Amino acid sequence: MPIKECKILTALQDVDGLADIQVYKQHGGYEALEKALKTMSPDDVITEVQESALAGRGGAWFSTGMKWSFMPKEPDGPSYLCVNCDESEPGTFKDRQLVNRNPHQLLEGVIIACYAIRARAAYIYIRGEMWEELEQMEQVIGQAKEAGYLGQNVLGTGVDIDVFTHPGAGAYICGEETGLMQSLEGKRAEPRVKPPFPAQKGIFDRPTTINNVQTISYVPHIVKNGASWFKEMGSERYPGSFIYCVSGHVKNPGIFELEIGGCTLREIIYECAGGIRDDNELKAVIPGGSSTPVLTADQLDIEMNPELWAIPGRGEFQGMFGTGGIIVMDDTTDMVDACLNLMNFYAHESCGQCTPCREGIPWVRDIVWRIAHGQGRPDDLDTLESVCNNVSPLLTPAMSTICLFGPSWSWPMLGFIKAFRSEFEAHIQKGAGVTTA
Ligand SMILES: Cc1cc2nc3c(=O)[nH]c(=O)nc-3n(C[C@H](O)[C@H](O)[C@H](O)COP(=O)(O)O)c2cc1C
Repeated sequence: MPIKECKILTALQDVDGLADIQVYKQHGGYEALEKALKTMSPDDVITEVQESALAGRGGAWFSTGMKWSFMPKEPDGPSYLCVNCDESEPGTFKDRQLVNRNPHQLLEGVIIACYAIRARAAYIYIRGEMWEELEQMEQVIGQAKEAGYLGQNVLGTGVDIDVFTHPGAGAYICGEETGLMQSLEGKRAEPRVKPPFPAQKGIFDRPTTINNVQTISYVPHIVKNGASWFKEMGSERYPGSFIYCVSGHVKNPGIFELEIGGCTLREIIYECAGGIRDDNELKAVIPGGSSTPVLTADQLDIEMNPELWAIPGRGEFQGMFGTGGIIVMDDTTDMVDACLNLMNFYAHESCGQCTPCREGIPWVRDIVWRIAHGQGRPDDLDTLESVCNNVSPLLTPAMSTICLFGPSWSWPMLGFIKAFRSEFEAHIQKGAGVTTA
């Protein structure tokens, strides 16, 4: 039986003119906001979100309600919400779609979240290249303000909430939550040491919550329909739906919103995305954005339920679930070239603050480059493994960098060697005797 999409966030994606507040309202828009502000206390909203077990969709899958509960109940000054729409992870393009197709859904979630965590203002940090989405978001904010959903005395309840957009500074690290905070303050996006955590000391040294676009977009639906409705879908620990972005060598690339745990990786690739181009053989899959270790063709029957994966669920399957960015490669792909492509990206994106990344990733990239160009040396794979293990061993919490950028390149590098070692060895053997670099 074909997989049924589970459309919560994408249900209205084909409705024309949804960026117009009137059209959004015709489809039930802002009813959740009215419900939250007029019939629920901020703590009621946090409890509802906590009971729904909504987990962050930015990659870490941390409980959203719990994160919100860390914010001060009686703040002695302004608190803030930051919405992460930097979306620079190769293979991931769901948040852009949500902002593009249903911007009021996000804004309604932002206003409710601000109310719940007692934030005076929210910043929607949008990747700089998404300037159309940024302009549209500003128009949408203007409409909501005019309708009384934003600004001073929202809906006559005495609550003041402002929402601002902020264009991203053009680097992958701006999406890391503390890098994002630095960037919002006008500084280089060099991640901060935690603790203190953002809820204690975030932007402008004030308590701050940072959430992904998809996470916040669920909030109106949970408030409107209740936590138990949300928990009817998905798995016990990770209820609801998830938006997968499928790209690469498939016939029908795109985004697909599916129930969590409702299908396997194979079904997403072959049913939703139409299978492999030219009916070639599938060779490899990056399951959840470029930071997740690559899988081989015999690992496709794993259920798409984060509980079963080592990261985040501590499950038995030795993989990382990630952000839904499924990159498919067919049997025409040279895995060393594919790996080099990714390592070039990471070498370009190191913020340079910590030595293991600043020195490690260009070193790793250079080694992969020489293997790809027939100049590999017999001990290159040992060196690659040693460098990566010193940054963060595969799928372990140990790391020698301030932020998760280190594991973001050392894990995929180790994953490529683990899954396709013989291909790396063949390149090295082919080039033996011509080492010059
Ligand atoms: C290098 C790096 C880049 C990241 N980029 C993003 C991003 O573009 N968008 C995002 O939502 N989270 C990104 N994250 C994760 C954030 O640090 C943070 O966990 C997330 O925004 C929290 O939101 P959530 O709890 O709703 O998932 C990135 C993390 C790292 C280490």
